[in-house]
Amino acid sequence: MCVLLASGKAYAGYSLSNNSSPHFMGIPRLKMAADAPSRSSLKLDEAFGVFLTKEEQETRCRSGLNSVDLGACPGGWTYQLVRRGMMVAAIDNDPMTLN
Ligand SMILES: C[S@@+](CC[C@H](N)C(=O)[O-])C[C@H]1O[C@@H](n2cnc3c(N)ncnc32)[C@H](O)[C@@H]1O
Repeated sequence: MCVLLASGKAYAGYSLSNNSSPHFMGIPRLKMAADAPSRSSLKLDEAFGVFLTKEEQETRCRSGLNSVDLGACPGGWTYQLVRRGMMVAAIDNDPMTLN
């Protein structure tokens, strides 16, 4: 990767193949569910996949747990949490998109 800062100034970066993302360009290709209110639901899906191990996902994002989504409209993150079986207190001063 190369970031061009100005004429004559750039940062070059690299990662070792045994210490890099398994995904092309570091971005997992996630498919948005047809009934998701926004693409932001994929951001949370990706964050869970990147920052939590499978075991942590099973204990920290499982059915029956409670969560709070502050500034929840239109509802992408709430959708992702509900999809995982969690109870969500979703708060916003704008209306949610409900499907
Ligand atoms: C970028 S959106 C959040 C998107 C959401 N995470 C999703 O996944 O769909 C930010 C939201 O915060 C809400 N918000 C900002 N300030 C707020 C406040 N003081 N009280 C309630 N909601 C607020 C806005 O109405 C807006 O809907």
